[in-house]
Amino acid sequence: MNTKNNRLFLITGATGNTGDTTVRLLLQRGHRVRALVHRSDARSENLGAAGAEIIVGDLLDFHAVSAAMRGVTGAYFCYPITPGLLDATAIFAQAASEAGVKAVVNMSQISARREANSDAARQHWIGERLLDRTAMQTAHLRPTFFAEWLTWYWNYRGDEGVLRLPLGNGRHAPIAGKDQSYVIAAILENPEPHDRQIYPLYGPVEMNHYEIADVISQTLGIPVRYEPLEVATFTEGLNAKGFPFHLVQHLSNVAIDYQNGIFAGTNNFVEVIGNKTPMTVEDYVNANKEAFTKDGLYAITSTQAHALGRSK
Ligand SMILES: NC(=O)c1ccc[n+]([C@@H]2O[C@H](COP(=O)([O-])OP(=O)(O)OC[C@H]3O[C@@H](n4cnc5c(N)ncnc54)[C@H](OP(=O)(O)O)[C@@H]3O)[C@@H](O)[C@H]2O)c1
Repeated sequence: MNTKNNRLFLITGATGNTGDTTVRLLLQRGHRVRALVHRSDARSENLGAAGAEIIVGDLLDFHAVSAAMRGVTGAYFCYPITPGLLDATAIFAQAASEAGVKAVVNMSQISARREANSDAARQHWIGERLLDRTAMQTAHLRPTFFAEWLTWYWNYRGDEGVLRLPLGNGRHAPIAGKDQSYVIAAILENPEPHDRQIYPLYGPVEMNHYEIADVISQTLGIPVRYEPLEVATFTEGLNAKGFPFHLVQHLSNVAIDYQNGIFAGTNNFVEVIGNKTPMTVEDYVNANKEAFTKDGLYAITSTQAHALGRSK
């Protein structure tokens, strides 16, 4: 390992979409990296093999998080859409402050607003404000929907693909998790210019889901359709699949935000801050073809959509 400096970075959510690549980028750049992982598994073993120090712990366990902060210069805070975001943020803020951590990059989201109807989105906004009350340098990332969404809602029948989502004609520029890692790593390496900044993050091309379906179709060489759902149909579909209330409450409310334009827009922050050309949807599909050969975790099938009250 290149040991050109001895700064130590703590990456939480280290086995997730944005955390994994952030760990690897910082290691490649010669930094010491401690990866806080939720459980020990193949993903964490791979990070260990790449040179990260692995700590298994829960972001809701103050003593575990406190132990993980020792000697850390800068940290990435990433908590999923599960209950406990504000507890985890407060625990992280206290543990990092006690340990003298200088900077934090906080994963928030574009729908984070004081008035958000999604509980998770409103908690992200409060979490940002809480971190801003510490002495640490803070940067808050507010991505639009990740490109990974396209695989999660993907319904595949072998000869065609369908995206069944309650997003109307709303638009966004899908951003790959890996591209965000370049921004996270760059801010951790040089946090001062980013202190107290809020960065909306977007992919390079804003589209509606009809246009996204066309790009996926051209890239995979099969017909792909977007079938807009009513929000209530989507919500009932996710409930029927047994997804937790907190997640469904979030997804159904951000769907309305999406239709109202909250997720729209694009910018060049991945390039300017992360020094990386962001992936287009075509790039993303080409790099993740395997994920498009099966139904996504949240996919609502045609049978379910019809049983629940159909597409719009
Ligand atoms: N998806 C989107 O379109 C989107 C858009 C904007 C913002 N965001 C934000 O992105 C964040 C998620 O980021 P991501 O996609 O990089 O993460 P992710 O892939 O969902 O991974 C979450 C990571 O956190 C770990 N984890 C879960 N609960 C934990 C706990 N209690 N203690 C310690 N670790 C825990 C998970 O480990 P295990 O897998 O082992 O549990 C996993 O490594 C959320 O805050 C969300 O609001 C997402």
